Formats: sequence, C-alpha cells, structure tokens
Amino acid sequence: MKMGMVTHSASAIAHPNIAFIKYWGNRDNTLRLPANGSISMNLEGLETHTRVEFEGSFSTDELWINGRHADEAGVTRASRMLDEVRQLAGIRLFARVESQNNFPLAAGIASSASGFAALALAASHACGVELDEAGLSRLARHGSGSACRSIPGGFVEWMTGMGDEDSYAVSIAPPRSWDLVDCIVLVSIDPKTTGSSLGHSLAGTSPLQPVRVEDTPRRLAICRKAIMDRDFSGLASIVEEDSNLMHAVMMTSRPPLFYWQPATFLVMQAVREARAQGLQACYTVDAGPNVHVLCEGAIRQETVKFLESLPGVQEVRQAETGGPARVVDSSPAGPHS
Ligand code: PMV
Repeated sequence: MKMGMVTHSASAIAHPNIAFIKYWGNRDNTLRLPANGSISMNLEGLETHTRVEFEGSFSTDELWINGRHADEAGVTRASRMLDEVRQLAGIRLFARVESQNNFPLAAGIASSASGFAALALAASHACGVELDEAGLSRLARHGSGSACRSIPGGFVEWMTGMGDEDSYAVSIAPPRSWDLVDCIVLVSIDPKTTGSSLGHSLAGTSPLQPVRVEDTPRRLAICRKAIMDRDFSGLASIVEEDSNLMHAVMMTSRPPLFYWQPATFLVMQAVREARAQGLQACYTVDAGPNVHVLCEGAIRQETVKFLESLPGVQEVRQAETGGPARVVDSSPAGPHS
C-alpha cells in the first residue's frame, strides 16, 4: 500500500454495561478467555464516542482520552487492538484514536468496556474489515473482557466458549423488553487501587474461586429466566448473591482485594432492608466502591430519592437498558476533534 497520502477513518459509539452475573478470573489472561460465563445489561445514556484515523504520515499510534494524551500503558493496550485490526486489513499505518466519554472516568462505571467496544468497531470499520457481531465481540474481548458484552444490544450473555473462536457475547433480550433502570450510587470517585486485569489474575489464588466458577451455570440459568419472565424478585435474589460471591473471592485472594468502603456496605444493607419493607430494588457492586442499584422504571423516582437520602452518597446517576455499539458519522466533541 502506498504510504503518505493514505487515510482511513471511522467513528463509533458504545455503551458501558453492568454485569448481573459477573466475570471474574480468566482461563487465559492474554486472550481474556473467562473462567465463567456472564450476563449484563448495556447502560443507555452513558457512552464512549471514539474516532480512529489511520494515516500514512503518522509515525506512531496516538491515543487521546477526554482530550488528554493517554498514559503509556493505555496506548500499549490500544495499540495491541490496532495491531490486530492492521493484520486483518493488511495495512501498516499508524493510527490516531480520539475517545470521549460522557461520564467521568472514575465514576465507578467501567469505561474500559465501552472504550474497547467502540475502538474495535471504529478501527475495523475504518479499514474496511467486515466483522460480524460475534467477530467484533471477540475483538473487543481482547482489549477488555467485559467489552465483548458492549457490542450486542440490550441484555447480553458472554459464552465462555471452548477457545478464542467461540468466546463472545450475544443479545438474549432487546433493550425495550424489560423497563429496568440502573441507579448508579456514587460513594467515591477516587481511582480504584487495583485494576481489573490484575484482579482477574489473582482470582485463582482464592480457595473460593473454583466453587464460584462451578456454580455459575445455576446462577446464569436463574438470571436468564428472570430476564425472560421479567421477574424482579428472581433477578434480585441471584444478582445480589452473585455480587457477594465475586467479592468473597476478591477478599480471599492472595493478596486480598477489598473494593468496598464503609458507605458501600451501608448502601447494600439499606437496599436489603428496604426490599424487606417492599421496595423492589437490588444491588450489585463491580471492582470498585460504587453501588449499582437495579429497579423497574415504575419505581425509579422513589428508589433514587431513597438512595440520595443515605449517608455517604455523593450522587445517583440513572441508566436504562442500552442498544448495541454502532458506527456514527460524527467525530467526538472535544478539543482534538
Ligand atoms: O473487563 P474487565 O477486565 O474490566 O473486568 C470486569 C470485571 C467486573 O466488572 C468486576 C465484572 C463484570 O463482569 O463486568
């Protein structure tokens, strides 16, 4: 390919997701083949908008996140995905990546999921690599495991698969099939101490991880059925159990990982007590201190008001079920667009 004048570009948008049945631990850390299957919901209204431009005159890959140069580790991780796309496309051009999140990076919402899903879609589209949804989901998985679940829309299941080829995510119910809301309760916006890549690699050191992994098909089946039946009580019972199980593994890893803060636990307890009093809400917590409280749309005002009244709560954000990652015409807004 002639260097110098060549340019390929595209933009894509992806939503982050919240897992109801969590992914924690890998069978293969490089390929990010998960120890267990997982189920999540995409988060409408929260999005990463990414533009990728491959250009003959660039001498290196560049990554801008929210208008700032990304650190070296971030660039290396993005370059690995770009290398995969370059190989598929048969090109050798470097790229400039501009990524804009409409939510704060440290807000307890996994930006790596929407970030790598948007990058996979924008980069492959820019160089004319035609991947189907499964192929895109696999590519996104290589960047960040949970990113594979941000490619399809609505309620999504990631199959563990036998290997790289068949470990990808599929939609199990469309966004509008159930009016569910994630009320994201921010108790801290400090950056997390241990990133999930390191956390995954420690999962196997907990004596509880094999038990958690072995029990996953049961939890997945209950969760799937609750989504199909729009059965909130069924969902609540398994979502909280699954989150507690993952944190039990984290807390018993060597070294142990404690992501909760006092306010995290306080919110969890308050939600359980409120449910016993009739408020149909349940909690789930990722690798950070903030709490995701799920409820049906009909009681979101009541639920948000209740959560905002709890001590230690800084802010409550709300997200409905979001659609799939998509290619868009525009560039992300920001100083470098
Ligand atoms: O995709 P990662 O490596 O950021 O891992 C995500 C891990 C959890 O958010 C804690 C669970 C999940 O399934 O999303």
